[in-house]
Amino acid sequence: MDFLNDFLLPPAKSTHADAVDKLFGFVNFVSVILIVGITIAVLYFVYKYYRKSENEVTPIIRQNVPLEVAWTIIPLFLVFIVFGWGFKGYMELTQVPEDAYEIHVTAQRWLWKFEYPNGATTTNELHVPANRPVKLLMQSKSGDVIHSFYVPDYRIKKDVLPNQYTQVWFNVKEPGESDLFCAEYCGTGHSDMTGTVIAHSEDEYEEWLADAGSGSMKDLPPVERGEKLFTQNACQTCHSLDGSRKTGPTVKGLFGSEEEMESGQTITVDENYLRESILNPNAKIVAGYAAVMPSFKGQLSDDQIDAIIEYIKAQK
Ligand code: CUA
Repeated sequence: MDFLNDFLLPPAKSTHADAVDKLFGFVNFVSVILIVGITIAVLYFVYKYYRKSENEVTPIIRQNVPLEVAWTIIPLFLVFIVFGWGFKGYMELTQVPEDAYEIHVTAQRWLWKFEYPNGATTTNELHVPANRPVKLLMQSKSGDVIHSFYVPDYRIKKDVLPNQYTQVWFNVKEPGESDLFCAEYCGTGHSDMTGTVIAHSEDEYEEWLADAGSGSMKDLPPVERGEKLFTQNACQTCHSLDGSRKTGPTVKGLFGSEEEMESGQTITVDENYLRESILNPNAKIVAGYAAVMPSFKGQLSDDQIDAIIEYIKAQK
């Protein structure tokens, strides 16, 4: 069964994974036995009981009690095994150890934000210590939609809701990287709502955290601050830097260009247009694009908007 799991499943990188895989392997194994057994029986009966002459008459069989009891009890028994086994695993997945290290997660269209105990934040990149239970306290930005936090390598998936916390926990066996996906359809950018989970060894993690927590942006020149803010808010998920078309228009060569709006009006991209597009994205929609960008009102200060505009201006 194990070799089949290695072939079918992503690497098992969390302590949950082995239990999940064993149950998955069991269900697969039973299914294979059943499908092979039933197929052989059907073929055998077709051969044994086909009508051999014109005047052969099929006997009428009213019932067969032992057979009916058997095909009721055996599947019922299998269902009970899978239920009990699954329930035990479910309890382990939902009961968070008390000493778990806590990280806060906010999902929004279409990015993941992580906040660490020392106030450091990251976007689309979750850093965790290995060999230690980690708890994620998750929510979707208010007014946003349902997302789902999914890390196949860890065998965990949990919905992330607006106005309500959900949580998951895991214990990563070894330092390394794993893919993170959004597993709930959440609109145009859903398939781009991906990220990476990076598990560090204990020492490396402390070092990373101290570093990430001290990163002040105040002293940087506006364009560089803008670049960091652009990445932190995952603007590049929808607005490419290289001129390619994504969910929204590219920022390459955007500033100073003439854009045709959905309304038929043509505008020249200046600071005021960019500012309005960040705070009130639906005020003017570029022709050929959908009105799907969420507002960043209340999320970015005037200063930060300035810096982002400077960064966009630098993308010639
Ligand atoms: Cu978020 Cu799909």
